[in-house]
Amino acid sequence: MCDKLRRKLSAVHGIPASRIICGNGSSELITLLYKTLLREGDAVAIPDPTFGLYETVARTFGVEPVVVPTDDEYRIDTRRLAETNAAAIIIANPNAPTGIPLQAPEIERLLQTYNGLVVVDEAYIDFAPESISVMNLIETYEHLIVLRTFSKAYALCGARIGFAVASERLIRAMQKARETFSVGAVAQLAAEASLADMDYVKFTVSRISQTRDRFAAELTRRGWRVIPSVTNFVLAAPPSDGVSAKELYARLLQEHIYVRYFDLPRLSDKLRISIGTDEDMDALLAALTRIG
Ligand SMILES: Cc1ncc(COP(=O)(O)O)c(C=O)c1O
Repeated sequence: MCDKLRRKLSAVHGIPASRIICGNGSSELITLLYKTLLREGDAVAIPDPTFGLYETVARTFGVEPVVVPTDDEYRIDTRRLAETNAAAIIIANPNAPTGIPLQAPEIERLLQTYNGLVVVDEAYIDFAPESISVMNLIETYEHLIVLRTFSKAYALCGARIGFAVASERLIRAMQKARETFSVGAVAQLAAEASLADMDYVKFTVSRISQTRDRFAAELTRRGWRVIPSVTNFVLAAPPSDGVSAKELYARLLQEHIYVRYFDLPRLSDKLRISIGTDEDMDALLAALTRIG
């Protein structure tokens, strides 16, 4: 049950432990949501682009994904998501792979007008302004679920640990269906230790944000179009008269530099680049210079 970790999370976030469930990464909790809170034949509204797992898992459970495109600047349109009348809406805030935030009042307006389940995946929240989080709204809205993970700012992705916060009723339903031993003791201890050293988390987050801003400015100077990001990655398009994103991806792979390329309609001219250390980013910039 991850009791000790849930108690620590409860103290850090000021939320009763009975409203928290831990999982084998937040991806286990996404699966659990579909398994327990939705039924085969239900629809789920998902913005596009976003984290691919929402749609993949929906299909696995016979839930129909209703994809709602973001606007020209990749902003999520909460009104159009609500108009789908789907049984649930899943939003990543900030969104992936764009790095764009949605403001909390806009999510609250959605909660006030839409009765289905609203899932807000705050995987990258630690890099973003705290004010965009809606975790404090779970006391007010019974149909809100907030997902968090230790995989990003806490750098524990290999340990596989995440958590969800919601009403006691929803958490109880998810706990019942959860794989009994899904979260290992080592992962729990690592998560507890990381919560005990928030100064270090804040330090690394601030370092990564500084490196991101410096890296984004340099890409912009080189003629790239960088989508403004509040996360630890940037989505950016290389100059249209140079080497294509697809070709850059392949050439970087040969140099053992791993960035993401999505061969999808609105993303195929861009790369999603995770921010590492200053040295990592300099190595990437040097490789881009070599490739031309
Ligand atoms: C938006 C988003 N949510 C959830 C996850 C899954 O994270 P976890 O490692 O907690 O399963 C990811 C991982 O890439 C992600 O990008």
